[in-house]
Amino acid sequence: MAHIINGIAVSQDIKNELRAQIDVLKEQSINVCLATVLVGDDAASHSYVKSKIKNCEELGIISRHFGLLQETSQTDLLQLIDSLNSDKSVNGILVQLPLPSHINEDTVINAINADKDVDGFTPASTGRLLIGQEGFVPCTPAGIIELLKRNNINTIGAEVVVVGRSNIVGKPVANLLLRKGQGADATVTICHSRSKNIKEHTLRADILIAAIGKAKFITADMVKEDAVVIDVGVNRIGIAPSGKAILAGDVDYVEVTKKASYITPVPGGVGPMTIAMLMKNTVKAAQIQAGLI
Ligand code: GUN
Repeated sequence: MAHIINGIAVSQDIKNELRAQIDVLKEQSINVCLATVLVGDDAASHSYVKSKIKNCEELGIISRHFGLLQETSQTDLLQLIDSLNSDKSVNGILVQLPLPSHINEDTVINAINADKDVDGFTPASTGRLLIGQEGFVPCTPAGIIELLKRNNINTIGAEVVVVGRSNIVGKPVANLLLRKGQGADATVTICHSRSKNIKEHTLRADILIAAIGKAKFITADMVKEDAVVIDVGVNRIGIAPSGKAILAGDVDYVEVTKKASYITPVPGGVGPMTIAMLMKNTVKAAQIQAGLI
């Protein structure tokens, strides 16, 4: 039976470390501030942003929220980003994705000042990650690396297979694990919806990262004995009588748990780490802007 990686506990450890750093900053009259921008009424996005704001409050990070109507124009959104870019009291800017279809996501992401890019989504952050330079790393991939590190899971020379090639998870996590001399140094394969025989790849994986967005896509026959399985999926498969969404990961958890050495549950695995790393990036932004690091 697999050891279950507790993302809630690890995220709490990180948040406790951050609390101490935030207190030190406060003593120097530096009040860390994150601006969150949410356009429209997507229920999942509302719930994610609410949770981000709650975490800010718990840690003593000032949260400035901008909830915009679904029909907000791209020009108005870009104007808001421009004003947040030049507002010295704002350390980090987060524009929740997806955006309504009349708004070009790339244009909006490109408009965020790279020094405030706590999501790590801008071309500047992406480029820095690719060539191993210091910068903001996207939160979910950064959270996965922390989970591996804090559970003493070796990645050096390991066969890692990432299923999913999104800009938010698949590509950045692959690049992080590929990095030279920073404790990663894995051999990385990325599979995606057009890959020919995904199972042939996944069966080689010492570490399998599932970020496809399809409930229970990874079945036990696709997993090598004693593999480490990281499940990034958050699929809403129904609604409980209480009104709460029923979630399933990208991995068939019950069956894969019998075969893996480590596994992340959904919920309670990667999810809480994403928010902890957002908080960490926001504190880092404040420290950089204050010339402290
Ligand atoms: N939508 C889904 N995940 C994310 C994320 O990590 N950041 C933002 N801004 N939007 C998202």
